[in-house]
Amino acid sequence: MKRIFLIFSFSHLLIFSLVAQTLQSPDGHFAMHFALNGQGRPTYRLTLDGQEVIGTSGLGLELKKEQADRQETFDNSKHTDAATIDQKADLMTGFALRSVETDSHDETWTPVWGEESQIRNHYNEMCIRLHQASNDRDMAIRFRLFNDGLAFRYEFPEQKNLTYFVIKEERTQFRMTGNHTAWWIPGDYDTQEYAYTESRLSEIRDRMQAAITPNASQTPAGPTCVQTALMMKSDDGLYINLHEAACIDYSTMHLNYAEETHTFESWLTPDARGDKGYLQTPCQSPWRTIIVGRSGADILASRMTLNLNEPCKIEDTSWIRPTKYIGVWWEMISGRNHWSYTDEATSVKLGQTDYTRLKPSGRHAANTKHVKEYIDFAARHGFDAVLVEGWNQGWEDWFGHEKDYVFDFVTPYPDFDVKAIRDYAAQRGVKMIMHHETSSSVRNYERHLDQAYQFMVDNGYPAVKSGYVGNIVPRGEHHYSQWINNHYLYCITKAAQYHIMVNAHEAVRPTGLCRTYPNMIGNESARGTEYEAFGGNTVEHTTILPFTRLIGGPMDYTPGIFEMDCSKLSPTNHSRVRSTLARQLALYVTMYSPLQMAADLPENYERFLDAFQFIKDVPLDWQRSLYLEAEPGQVVTIARQDKHSQDWYVGSAVGAGGHDTDLRLSFLEPGKKYEATIYQDGKDADWERNPQSYVITKKKVTAKTRLKIHSASGGGFAIKLKLEN
Ligand code: NOJ
Ligand code: CA
Repeated sequence: MKRIFLIFSFSHLLIFSLVAQTLQSPDGHFAMHFALNGQGRPTYRLTLDGQEVIGTSGLGLELKKEQADRQETFDNSKHTDAATIDQKADLMTGFALRSVETDSHDETWTPVWGEESQIRNHYNEMCIRLHQASNDRDMAIRFRLFNDGLAFRYEFPEQKNLTYFVIKEERTQFRMTGNHTAWWIPGDYDTQEYAYTESRLSEIRDRMQAAITPNASQTPAGPTCVQTALMMKSDDGLYINLHEAACIDYSTMHLNYAEETHTFESWLTPDARGDKGYLQTPCQSPWRTIIVGRSGADILASRMTLNLNEPCKIEDTSWIRPTKYIGVWWEMISGRNHWSYTDEATSVKLGQTDYTRLKPSGRHAANTKHVKEYIDFAARHGFDAVLVEGWNQGWEDWFGHEKDYVFDFVTPYPDFDVKAIRDYAAQRGVKMIMHHETSSSVRNYERHLDQAYQFMVDNGYPAVKSGYVGNIVPRGEHHYSQWINNHYLYCITKAAQYHIMVNAHEAVRPTGLCRTYPNMIGNESARGTEYEAFGGNTVEHTTILPFTRLIGGPMDYTPGIFEMDCSKLSPTNHSRVRSTLARQLALYVTMYSPLQMAADLPENYERFLDAFQFIKDVPLDWQRSLYLEAEPGQVVTIARQDKHSQDWYVGSAVGAGGHDTDLRLSFLEPGKKYEATIYQDGKDADWERNPQSYVITKKKVTAKTRLKIHSASGGGFAIKLKLEN
């Protein structure tokens, strides 16, 4: 039911007395208090059962004064305070209330794929319409209060005095109530491929330098800037998560921390000129989200990010399918083989290099014979698809030159027979997954996109893994600015026209857009398994990702490594995968994704076929998900029911301390018998000393069964619970 209150404000006194507004969540536990402060600046405050979660925090934006401050905008360290902003640039203060609209919404929708087959979207809404008399401008702030937290966004109606405008900075604040514990990665305009730091908020500045482990792709945003989704826990046990939803035609938000007040403020990604957004009314910002719970499980169970996105815009979704795949990949990542065809050429110019005259290195993995072996393996073990990287010309000289012509996405190396592979895979019922490394030459990719997608359709590739390694070309643009965020979405929508599913690596971290465009079946956008071959991920990494990166959508984490010692693949690679084998199985349950890779080499799976069985069995699409244990850095245990049967699967990933789980199977259907197959760490398992020690047991269980399972340091377990007839 929609209600509108019109406010007639003739004097400031009247304004301030009338503008305090309160919105309650449907269950009455949360309250959002809106007010205009003494400067006419919009503010909000959030409480849970009367306890403050977010203290009074300012809202608004600072615009760029046309021409005048074009030079100074890049220097973000000079954050002006509200009092000193030029009047024309001020979209923060001097507001009066025009009207308040309230509404409520309760609907259940059906995702194309997901952690649940039905999702409830239930909230109370308040839209505060504001008028700024000094500039005769209007702005609205729309709040939605759910039973699991608050979201709000700015809306800019079409109007005479605000048509085109440039954002200098969004000035949304999130005032924390104390020095919470946080799990964070440095704010960065180009990468999220960082390890997480667990620290008090007050330690962010001191620990920033150590958190920025050098990597050529980084552009750190500032000494107190962190990325979202940011996970926090207060000393009195509140779990708080800050992120954004539906980031469309807008740049990605980081959060800058002010120690004195425990306050985060939005810090948008600049473009090459230092500007942070070009907008044209009518338009809106993405949603700013504050998910709050009394347990870590509440955060993982939240569907707020998806709910804030628009319903599916793709009419026929029959071609969008969860996909389990293997790939010609880990052998290159680990250093055993190469993406490139030859070692001979040092500089290759696409279309002008006659590869047939060059000497093959003998280590080019994407050759027809080898790819057919992968297809055979996929067919034998029931995988949907095979990814092949390094199939196309250009890999000899692709990285770090910021060239605009590296790949054309249609020209194979001479030893990769596109048609033969197409037919071979089709005969065996296996799909192919295309690889488009754009080398961040974004314009080059856009120029080739139609041709590249048509090539996929013609040759049996219903999905593409794209990648954005290196600096964005044109020079100076960042991976998360408005322009390239629009590029990522352009690829998704264009791919949909060709019935192609997209999994972009190094692209912006997701904000729930997969609800609207479910052909976006994956993203990397965090430190994935590849880093296990580049020195190793931290032991607790996969116990943090569900609370951070996965809040926005599924990740192509590429688990399933069974050989932890990389020197066994490539003698000069001394990296170790920091996980037990049992935990690698658990990740298929704990790291939700409709796209899952079994990333290791077939030869390593042949050595452990009994454990491999879990990867073959585990579904990719679910009816229900229950979050049984959820402490960032320590443990994530999730039970999920298969979408297409009555079977359940449980996964548990554990950090460095090891963990004892008391698993009650009360979620099983009462009175029914299930056969449990339990894959757990062996007694002597330890990620460092004995990662391949595991035990598989089978037993009959019911809803009354309690299983006590010990997981090793960096360990975990996976269980299949099959309903008996
Ligand atoms: C980085 C991606 O994350 C990785 O999966 C890929 O193999 C390389 N880029 C090469 O494109
Ligand atoms: Ca990557």
